[in-house]
Amino acid sequence: MSEQVAIVGSGLVGSAWALVFARAGWRVRLYDQEASQLAAAAARIADNAGEMVRHELLDDAPSVLGRIESRARLEDAVEGVSYVQESVFENADVKRTFYRRMDAVVGSHTIVGSSSSGIPASVFTEGLACASRCLIAHPINPPYVIPLVEICPTPWTDPSVVDRVWSLMSDAGMTPVRVTREIDGFIANRLQAALLWEAFRLLEGGYASAQDIDRTISAGLGRRWAFIGPFETIDLNAPRGLADYAARLGPGFFEFVKQGEPAQPWSDDVIAKAHDECRSRVEESELPARQAWRDRRLMALAAHLNRARTEIGS
Ligand SMILES: NC(=O)c1ccc[n+]([C@@H]2O[C@H](COP(=O)([O-])OP(=O)(O)OC[C@H]3O[C@@H](n4cnc5c(N)ncnc54)[C@H](O)[C@@H]3O)[C@@H](O)[C@H]2O)c1
Repeated sequence: MSEQVAIVGSGLVGSAWALVFARAGWRVRLYDQEASQLAAAAARIADNAGEMVRHELLDDAPSVLGRIESRARLEDAVEGVSYVQESVFENADVKRTFYRRMDAVVGSHTIVGSSSSGIPASVFTEGLACASRCLIAHPINPPYVIPLVEICPTPWTDPSVVDRVWSLMSDAGMTPVRVTREIDGFIANRLQAALLWEAFRLLEGGYASAQDIDRTISAGLGRRWAFIGPFETIDLNAPRGLADYAARLGPGFFEFVKQGEPAQPWSDDVIAKAHDECRSRVEESELPARQAWRDRRLMALAAHLNRARTEIGS
């Protein structure tokens, strides 16, 4: 079904969402409180669409770009749309203030998904007229090449809204997962935080360099994680599956996991150690080029996974 969607907050994530929805054939209106951000978003979207064409992830960039337009006023952006993807700053007060403003202008059937990375939607939607139509739809950046979207309702989200956003995201080529009840950080950032805490702990203890800890993921564990997750990984790593793996390796893993001390904030020293090592490999001035390199690698990976999916039909 063809939808009309509004993206509110046209920074890094909002502009990336525009490509997801326009690629699916929907008309997209972009809004931002800063006119300069809207202009920057249009340029970024055109650049990214060009890269996607080069990686065979998009056939017809002009048509996709032709479905995206900007609106200077929030009222005009959300008028008549079936879905709003909120992507303003990750700050509870900013989101609360914004949602109160939007509540006054959004249509009575419009659904609102928030890109929030970790703040549950109940923190900023309580008491609003549109509250039962609000939930989290959290992407991993950039969503036009990374398909995951975490859908997390509030206690007052209408269950039919969850189903509706699930099918809307699936239709847009995303891979939704359901967070069945609210938790800070949802699933993705909690898993990411657990890994980061252990990485900093190993670095601080002098067990390996930051580069070698990175390589342990990029040349090791991460290779599998591009297409299977932690449960399937261990299910496939013992002759009789997951329970067999748990019996063989669970007790040993528990021995070193329980040695972990309670979480502490990352110390200034360990942050400096990791930062200096990263800067010795990539100077600060080279970061944009390295980010562009990462995005090209992600596009090549997405193209490869798309082809593999077509070939093996999974
Ligand atoms: N950057 C990421 O990797 C990432 C990934 C997933 C989710 N997110 C989430 O997406 C949201 C946006 O993050 P981002 O990285 O795009 O930030 P950003 O700073 O790039 O963009 C935020 C945009 O929102 C606009 N804005 C702020 N308040 C507004 C308001 N009241 N009305 C209209 N526009 C407003 C700003 O002008 C800015 O253009 C956050 O909730 C963030 O946690 C970010």
